[in-house]
Amino acid sequence: MISEKAQNVKLAEARRYIMERVPSLPELGIILGSGLGSFADLVEEKIVISYKDIPHFPISTVEGHAGQLVFGKVSGRKVMVMQGRFHYYEGYSMQEVTFPIRVMQVLGATGLIVTNAAGGINSGFHPGDLILIKDHLNLMGDNPLRGANLLSLGPRFPDLSEGYDLEWRQKALTIARELGINPQEGVYAAMSGPNYETPAEIRYLRTIGADMVGMSTVPEVIVANHGGMQVLGISCVTNMAAGILAQKLNHTEVMETAGRIETQFVQFVQALVRVL
Ligand code: 6GU
Repeated sequence: MISEKAQNVKLAEARRYIMERVPSLPELGIILGSGLGSFADLVEEKIVISYKDIPHFPISTVEGHAGQLVFGKVSGRKVMVMQGRFHYYEGYSMQEVTFPIRVMQVLGATGLIVTNAAGGINSGFHPGDLILIKDHLNLMGDNPLRGANLLSLGPRFPDLSEGYDLEWRQKALTIARELGINPQEGVYAAMSGPNYETPAEIRYLRTIGADMVGMSTVPEVIVANHGGMQVLGISCVTNMAAGILAQKLNHTEVMETAGRIETQFVQFVQALVRVL
């Protein structure tokens, strides 16, 4: 756990490093999940900064993630894109996982679009479906806001009753219809990972109201809400969760489905950036 003062200093140093390199500050942060990396190709007037060069940024370890921030414009909006994220299962602390969200906040971003690959629990979902996250279950056994609270960043006891902005979700459902994407919403359950869940765990998750399950997103969304940002979340259902279908799970299938749907996913996020 780092002190409030140390946290402020780290954020100020990361912010300063970025401000010396980008001509204008982002309005919107975007986190690209597995297989969505090509969204970064759409960014115009691009400035790319590797995570390893930013003071106090953790370093991405999982393959298939570029590990860089891409600043620039998409659909005329100023964005800060995370190409690759930090997962709790990699061994980072919750504060490390969410450090980039704090950087977005102190750079002045007021909104966050977060994407991920998830396992489908709701039997109405199919691999390849894009699902708007309407709420979440934090089952990671930890919380990024644990410890001293920096009042300058947000309140001690933040409200999460609309953790995923209702107006943004409604706009996103409209955009989905326009793009021929089946407009669907669901509750995302976050597990610490790295193993996929057992069939018994999936039955439990279904019982408590989960529609999809994954190993990311929730820490970032908690911190973004704490910081007063509006949030939109989208899951790509890459596979059905354990015990839903009579087949085993593997990371290759997850990446293959994400790749198959990438073009549509990128198009969706691009259209969202225009209207949010
Ligand atoms: Cl089935 N579970 C979790 N925790 N994460 C996933 C997944 C399942 N499928 C893709 N990501």
